[in-house]
Parts: sequence; structure tokens; C-alpha cells
Amino acid sequence: MGNADELTVIVLAAGGGTRMKSKTIKVLHHVGGRSMIGHVLAAVEALEPHRVVAVVGHQREEVGAHIRALVPDAVLAIQETLDGTGGAVRVAIQASGTTHGTVVVATGDTPLLEGKSLRDFVAEHRAAEQAVSILSGLVADPFGYGRVVRNGEGDVESIVEEKDATPNQREIAEINSGILAFDAEFLLGALPRLTNDNAKGEFYLTDVVRIAREDGLSVGAFPIDDVMQTEGVNDRAELAELGCEMNRRIVARWMRDGVSVMDPATTWIDADVVLTHDVTLLPGTQLLGVTAVAEDAVIGPDTTLKDCEIGAGARVVRTHGELAVIGDGATVGPFAYLRPGTVLGALGKIGTFVETKNATIGDGAKVPHLSYVGDAEIGDGANIGAGTIFANYDGVAKHRTRVGRLARTGSNNTFVAPVDIGDGASTGGGTVVRRNVPPGALAVSGGPQRNLAGWAQSKRAGTPQAAAAEAALADALGPGGAPAAASEGD
Ligand code: UD1
Ligand code: CA
Repeated sequence: MGNADELTVIVLAAGGGTRMKSKTIKVLHHVGGRSMIGHVLAAVEALEPHRVVAVVGHQREEVGAHIRALVPDAVLAIQETLDGTGGAVRVAIQASGTTHGTVVVATGDTPLLEGKSLRDFVAEHRAAEQAVSILSGLVADPFGYGRVVRNGEGDVESIVEEKDATPNQREIAEINSGILAFDAEFLLGALPRLTNDNAKGEFYLTDVVRIAREDGLSVGAFPIDDVMQTEGVNDRAELAELGCEMNRRIVARWMRDGVSVMDPATTWIDADVVLTHDVTLLPGTQLLGVTAVAEDAVIGPDTTLKDCEIGAGARVVRTHGELAVIGDGATVGPFAYLRPGTVLGALGKIGTFVETKNATIGDGAKVPHLSYVGDAEIGDGANIGAGTIFANYDGVAKHRTRVGRLARTGSNNTFVAPVDIGDGASTGGGTVVRRNVPPGALAVSGGPQRNLAGWAQSKRAGTPQAAAAEAALADALGPGGAPAAASEGD
């Protein structure tokens, strides 16, 4: 029965998914950080197939480009008219030139599908040397599915679709998951024999089962234990439901692998996130994209990190971060906003109400409070005073600021980029740094402080402010009327 070594996987993705009520085709909707078809293709790749063929129809440019980005050598088969799953497989066979081996058909809308289940199914199909194998499932509510019809001996006779089933057949709890395996030579001969005289007027791929039996060939149905893996998404409620289930599985897997999760129900981890043992995740944490967290790091509560890299033992509290790298033992937050290009060195600190972007902050360097750090390079061990703004934008272009090693800048500074503050330099409180500061220098801006004595009493006479000033000065004169302290005016 053909060359079992050659494996072709056909993924059906031509339908639009009307019930999603979306401008985006169903299989491109995301769950767990990947498109639905992305999850299916990842499971398919685990089979190490000889070729992958995707059948596209609706929004074929977008879907096709997405599939090619994930599986560069995938064959794209275009189904011009959506005349059924049989029609879809026909165009896939034509486009790929498949003539022998094993053909597996799957659909692009089953995000929980795992590679191991596909591998086990193909192994069963090959071992039993079937013309057709059905990955079936026993479900509580079989409504809508094709039912697996068996004869008195328990042999599979046919798959009958919901709309074509008799009331008795509708009672059958064993359903066709939509994942089928075929001997290629048999499939090639059977496809032209499909007809569309059925309730939906479509060419049903599932009718190939009946054709095999008419030819005296054997068909197997292998029930999958974990039926959710083959559940398809039809609308957004089902997308959310399977999304929650996927997250539950991912979180459970990481807990088994040594990650502490205080509240699994409010912890979200995308499929491509990588964690390590002894990571702790506190409630309300979302780890998205390709975020990676090293051991002993503690993340959360209420933190979202997308495509971030978090070092060992780092502490990230109430933070939103994207495309940021946090060094070993560093601390971030509470209430920090790390924008793309933020790199915080080992034992560094990005503190409370701090926003960073395209900024490299060295080992042990600290930006503790109320600051904006954009387009900057801060040397190892430097300390940036509270309320510092890196003014990187002159209205036309962005410029960079460099702060040297072990520099200590005062509170409420503005660094007007491009500017360079040397190693070991300091700045006074409230300094507006417009010119470079040499290493070791102290920069101060603005003239010496001037106190205009009696300003409130003369310019704000009769106000509560002036009264407060008068009362303070009277107190200072004391009972003898001698001045307590002279106020300098210059
Ligand atoms: C199909 C099966 C049914 C099974 C169910 C599992 C058939 C005839 N029926 O029914 O036995 O229980 O899946 O979910 O196969 N597609 C195309 N081109 C087409 C038609 C469909 O690419 O012309 C794709 C769709 O995008 C979808 C998949 O094939 O991903 C299944 O098609 P759909 O019409 O949803 O079939 P079901 O009625 O669900
Ligand atoms: Ca369907």
C-alpha cells in the first residue's frame, strides 16, 4: 500500500469563518500568542512531513503569506470554489503532485492539537495498514459533527454528516474529528468518484470512507482520549473558551516543570514563552510572545511582558514591558513602562513611574523615580536623580544622551540631547544639561538663587499667603522685637 515513508499533510483553510463576524479570516485569529493555524502547523511540523500543503481560498494572500512565514516550503493550493472538503483535498493533491505514501488531512482551526496526538494517529494508521483512518472522538454532544457509523462487528462503514444523518445515526456519540489519514494511491483513485448529491450539495471528503468499504478495503477509527485537541473554533465565544483551556494547560505544564504560580486563573502564558524552574509568577501576570524568564525571577503582581527577556533573580513588579531585556538580579517597578529597546544591566534598577525606550542602562545603574529615559546610554553604576527627563526629541529628530559610569545626577534634571555626561560627573538639582559635562565635573545651570524679600507682602498684599508670611516674620522677631534671622536680598 504505497510508500509509507512519504508523508503529505494537507491543512484545510479555505473557509472564511462567517460566524467569527470579523474582517479577519478565522484561522488568522490569535490564541495563546499564535494564530490558530500557527498552532496547527506547529503540531504538523512535529510529524516531520515530507510536504505540507495548505488549501487557501478566502483572503488567500494574507493566509498564504502567513503560512509561508511559518512553513517556508509549504505548498499553497488555491481552492477557487468552496465546493466541500473533498474538493479542497482534490486541489491539494493536484498542487502538490502527491502520488504515493500517506496523506493526512487536518483543519486549520483546532488550536489545541498537539504533535504527539498526530504522531500516534499516523503510527496507528500505518501499523493497521488501512486505506483510511479516522481520528475519532467520543463526545457528550455530537451535534454538528460527522458520525462514525460502525456495523454489527464494529467495523467502520461510513461517516454520515449531521445534515444527512437519520435520527438513529444522530444518536451515535463517536464523531469524525476532521483529521483523517489515507493511503495516497487509494485516495487519488477515490477523489474523482465523490459526488455532491447530499444535503449540503458539497463534495464530502468523508464519503471516501464509504468508497473504501465498497472496494472491500478496511477503514479504522481511532478515538482520541483528549477530545478538546480536535475541537474547532467557530465563533469568538469558542475562541475564548479554547483560549482559556490552552492557558490552563500551559500554566499546568510550567507548574509541573517547577514554576510557582500563585493564581493560575489570572496568569496568562503564551505558547512560545520559555520559563525556568523556581520562577515565581504572582497574580495578574501576562507573559506574552517569546518572553523568557530565568530562574528565581519573581514577576508580578499585575505585570504584562511581551517579547521580554528577564534575568535570573530579577524582580519585576506592576510593570508593562515590550521588547525589553532585564539583567540578572535587577529590579523593575512598581509602575514602570519599558518600551522596545530597553536593556537594563545586572543589579540595575528601573523604579516607580519610570518610562524607558531605546535605553541601555548599565550594570548596577539606577533610575529610581519619576523619569523618562529615551534614546540613552547610562553607564555602569550611574544614578539618575528623581524626576529626570531625557529630552530626546527636538521636534524634528531624536537624539541620544550618554551618561558615564558612576555619574550621579541631581533631581529634576533635563538632559537636552544630544549631550554627554562624563564618567564620574555630577549635576546639581534642577539642572538643564545642554552642553557636555566633562568626567568628574559638577554641572549646575541657572544663576545663583535670589530671594526678593517681602515679595508676597507687597505683590500679594491682603491674601492668605501674605498673612502667613507676616505671621511667620512676627513670630521670628520674638517678644523683644529683635530680628531672629536676617533675610538676605541680592
Ligand atoms: C467536517 C467534516 C465532519 C467533521 C467536522 C469536524 C466533511 C464533509 N465533514 O464538517 O465529518 O465531523 O468537519 O469539525 O468533511 N474547507 C475548505 N474548503 C471547502 C470546505 C471546507 O477548505 O470547500 C475547510 C474549512 O475551512 C474548514 C474545514 O475544511 O476548516 C471543515 O469544513 P466545514 O465546512 O467546517 O466542515 P464541517 O461541516 O465542520
Ligand atoms: Ca467546522
